[in-house]
Amino acid sequence: LRIAHVSVEMAPIAKVGGMGDVVTALARAVQDEGHEVEVVLPKYDIINYAEVRNLRPRGDFFFSNVQVKVWVGEVEDIKTTFLEPTSGIFWVKCIYGRNDDAGRFAFFCGAATEYLKHHCKQMPDIVHAHDWPTAPVAFGDLGGRCRSIFTIHNLNYGADLIGRAMLAAAAGTTVSPTYAAEVSGHPAVAPHMTKFYGIRNGIDQDIWDPLEDRFLPRNYGVEDAAAGKAAAKAELRRRMELSSADVPLVAVITRLTHQKGIHLIKHAAWRALERGAQFVLLGSAPDPRVQNEFNGMAADMARQYMDRARCCFSYDEPLSHLIYAGADMLLVPSIFEPCGLTQMIAMRYGTVPVVRKTGGLNDTVFDVDDDEERASSQGMVTNGYNFEGTDAGGVDYALNRALAAWNADKQGWADLVERIMEQDWSWSEPALDYIELYYKAIKGCDV
Ligand code: ADP
Ligand code: GLC
Repeated sequence: LRIAHVSVEMAPIAKVGGMGDVVTALARAVQDEGHEVEVVLPKYDIINYAEVRNLRPRGDFFFSNVQVKVWVGEVEDIKTTFLEPTSGIFWVKCIYGRNDDAGRFAFFCGAATEYLKHHCKQMPDIVHAHDWPTAPVAFGDLGGRCRSIFTIHNLNYGADLIGRAMLAAAAGTTVSPTYAAEVSGHPAVAPHMTKFYGIRNGIDQDIWDPLEDRFLPRNYGVEDAAAGKAAAKAELRRRMELSSADVPLVAVITRLTHQKGIHLIKHAAWRALERGAQFVLLGSAPDPRVQNEFNGMAADMARQYMDRARCCFSYDEPLSHLIYAGADMLLVPSIFEPCGLTQMIAMRYGTVPVVRKTGGLNDTVFDVDDDEERASSQGMVTNGYNFEGTDAGGVDYALNRALAAWNADKQGWADLVERIMEQDWSWSEPALDYIELYYKAIKGCDV
């Protein structure tokens, strides 16, 4: 098959959140199965060109009276086509966050469709579009035998556009079975349930690999997890200027938005500190008011718990690797979470997730005390702590048990670390589900 992803994010060159990770990792997993895969992306001024191999010009075309230059290169071994409107609409130092986002992405979708139809070597069999920014590709006129697949990463933005894409696409997907069920009544999705699938995301296990990770002081696998994690924890504490007392370290790595459960993050941070743990947060808020609140929290914490709490308000990929490895627990108390990647990355590094039971968090985290049966019925193992509800009591329930287990049962904790590192969160299985869907779509049968 020939598959073209049209996306506005792609890790590691143009990433805001997990959608960028998913586009790259899914593209590569499908390519590894022997298919021809390409990603089409705007040529932003903020692209991390160090990660693009062999970038070269490939001509140009006109769309809406604007000259669009075409560039090709390889990112993580995937053929990547960059479209550069010479009007400069993508030279704005960001991907999202301006009030002309919708117009810029609509232009990109029109140009991408024109490129795929008339200016690439051969029209793909499948065009795979992602979230509202590329919805117009799915509901635009692709022509010929090309079919579109549309993936919802987050239904909270651009629902109108998403509804149109769902209607036009040969099939729609979202990124976990539980989120698929949660949004099944949404007007953008409800009329299309017969062609709507929840396929859980994977993580790129080459990028997220404690055995090879160049950002860790010492690489480790299941056999030497204790030593590897201890080295990472020591390095993290050194960099964050935290004490080296024998206490658990609770971490949060996230965009600080409503979705991520801001009041629960704050509550859990204070609760962890009250109970003697250390706390590290890596995140930043697109909304200045939210950022202000967190600045206040960080200042209060620095006063009360100088050597036990640190907040880093930045987007820092290398630091995120060290935190995934050096923390004992990763907290993800999201109000909603279509899939979530951080809990899976954490487990890959032997860090125990403490999560709210929603969306993909429900499909990937099985409580050691409460979910034995649910886990085994799905061929999974218990691997973390979870809670329901959106109040402080819920998060306390999960966090208190996790901290108590760390303190009281060192061997039990080590066994849990080993168990979670042995799980498979790769794309191998989910990629096969997508390929099956692609075949059904081109056969035109009822997908
Ligand atoms: P979302 O896409 O909703 O932000 P996901 O859990 O799917 O949530 O993906 C988040 C991705 O972004 C993960 O790869 C995570 O490691 C990364 N990430 C989030 N915040 C930061 C940060 N402040 N610094 C570095 N990486 C981050
Ligand atoms: C969105 C969702 C997140 C998901 C990611 C990748 O950003 O918020 O839950 O993991 O997309 O699909």
